[in-house]
Amino acid sequence: MNIIAGPASQLLAGRVTEVLKANLLISEFRKFPDGELYTRVVDDIGSVVTIIQSTVTDSDFIALLQLIDACSDASRVNVVIPYMGYARQDKKFKAGEAISARALARTIKADNVYTINIHDTSILDYFDAKTIDLDATPMIGKYIKNMKFINPLIIAPDDGAINIAKSASSDLGIDYDYLEKTRLSGEAVLIQPKNVNVKGRDVIIIDDIISTGGTIAETISLLRKQGAHEVFAACVHPVLSSNAILKIFKAGVKGIIATDTIDKGVSVVSVAPVIASVIGNI
Ligand code: R5P
Repeated sequence: MNIIAGPASQLLAGRVTEVLKANLLISEFRKFPDGELYTRVVDDIGSVVTIIQSTVTDSDFIALLQLIDACSDASRVNVVIPYMGYARQDKKFKAGEAISARALARTIKADNVYTINIHDTSILDYFDAKTIDLDATPMIGKYIKNMKFINPLIIAPDDGAINIAKSASSDLGIDYDYLEKTRLSGEAVLIQPKNVNVKGRDVIIIDDIISTGGTIAETISLLRKQGAHEVFAACVHPVLSSNAILKIFKAGVKGIIATDTIDKGVSVVSVAPVIASVIGNI
């Protein structure tokens, strides 16, 4: 099995290679003086190859397209997109908008495409490939299992993330819940855990993505007001744009736990075994 790492996923691809005892190919990534990207796979690509590249930035996406093109002579090309940018624009919210996730997915030509906790699995239908969305939340659960908590509770910031909370808590014997927004009047909303009292408990908030940190910071403040003991923030994809980390710490977080779908200082949980478990069987 030959593995090609895109520029955004070199560490993760290295970890997958290590798990599988596969062959990590050397590639070269440069910029021309006008800013255009130059991408070359230096080692022999061979006939079956897996490209691993998150598309955090527009340039990451171009590098992925270049790598797929470089593999045109391979007989089978698998693409792993651990974090897919633009996935949150998965529908038209206003007339005239592009469905960005569709626009990007349609350009990816491969035999198999694997994503990890993609924002909405409906996006998978837009790829010209067989697709599977992998679940990294049990890996976060495993990490949490080794931490010391007081009467812990895993909480999703909204009902959209309830499956993530459920999956991360499975096998841990830890309760999970989600926050529910109740409109009290035109101006006032009450956000509270649906079923459980958080007073005196350690709470781990879990979401698919932390981007600006707004959702998590607001949730932390609320849980602390409601008497939670220590509050941790966990996510699969630590986008952490701009001053997200500052906002989250200002809100009183005890720690941030994330995976390496995006390589950040908080990426303490590796999804390499999750990727290896599927591409190792191809
Ligand atoms: C939204 O649907 C996602 O699940 C996350 O809750 C959202 O992307 C977080 O964004 P932010 O960190 O900017 O509040």
